[in-house]
Amino acid sequence: MRTVLAILLLLFATYTVLVYGYGHGDRDERASAAVREGMRTWQKENCASCHQLYGLGGYMGPDLTNITSQRDTLRIRTFIRYGTGRMPGHALSDVEIDKMIAFLGWVDRTGTRIMPPEATHWTGTYLLEKP
Ligand code: HEC
Repeated sequence: MRTVLAILLLLFATYTVLVYGYGHGDRDERASAAVREGMRTWQKENCASCHQLYGLGGYMGPDLTNITSQRDTLRIRTFIRYGTGRMPGHALSDVEIDKMIAFLGWVDRTGTRIMPPEATHWTGTYLLEKP
């Protein structure tokens, strides 16, 4: 009986160390001050009314969870500042846009979007089969 208890205790301890020591992998990253300010701009400008992060948000524009690894920074800046026919431009300073991109980079490193890039048109619109 004691041996069984000792083994169970050992397993519990090992499991605890594994889960809390290594469980988060490299996706566990604290948000820096710039990232937090970028997040506030994201909220203030209401980007989530049209865009999703981690699959949550509006559906007029594409999911931006992994946008920083899929598109170059210049393209992202241009979209934010000037918009398109369907996305409004945003009067933000260079510093504000830098922080917004830092925030989007942080989101990118901490999550994966479900919609594959090949299902997204270059304008950002989804190419879904009609039912
Ligand atoms: C009124 C809806 C709307 C709002 C608000 C909006 N967007 Fe967009 N956004 C779009 C649409 C729609 C597209 C796709 C381009 C198109 O179809 O014109 C897009 C495209 C983008 C792209 C390019 C995506 C790609 O695949 O290259 C980025 C980056 C982007 N938006 C960032 C933002 C950020 C950051 C904000 C907040 C400051 C924001 N958007 C606010 C609708 C919106």
